[in-house]
Amino acid sequence: MNTIVIRNASAMTDFSLVDGWYEIGAITDIFAERDCRGVELAGEKIGLFHVDDEVLALDDICTHGAALLSDGDMEDGEVECPLHAGLVDVRTGRALSAPVTRDTRRHDTKIVDDRLFVRLQA
Ligand code: FES
Repeated sequence: MNTIVIRNASAMTDFSLVDGWYEIGAITDIFAERDCRGVELAGEKIGLFHVDDEVLALDDICTHGAALLSDGDMEDGEVECPLHAGLVDVRTGRALSAPVTRDTRRHDTKIVDDRLFVRLQA
């Protein structure tokens, strides 16, 4: 098992990386204020979305333009981009409504003892 610590300069947060999984933190802390949160992992902006008892991770930058999906509003597992109101399904990454037409890349998540882990997809 290899363990390294990644310095996330923009968020001023350290994430441990163990066997390809970033340990983000306690679910209750991450989503204390909102069900949508953004983090930066290995230089990539990742949106985290808390839906029921699941957490989904997607590329945070909207496929339509320069906006962060994690800044949008989410309802029933669909997040509305804050810039032009396109909808994305956070469970699948599918583009649901114009002007978003390209799907968003998903990343793996797991929850262990209330702690969230994310593994980036290539
Ligand atoms: Fe997201 Fe346009 S930037 S819908």
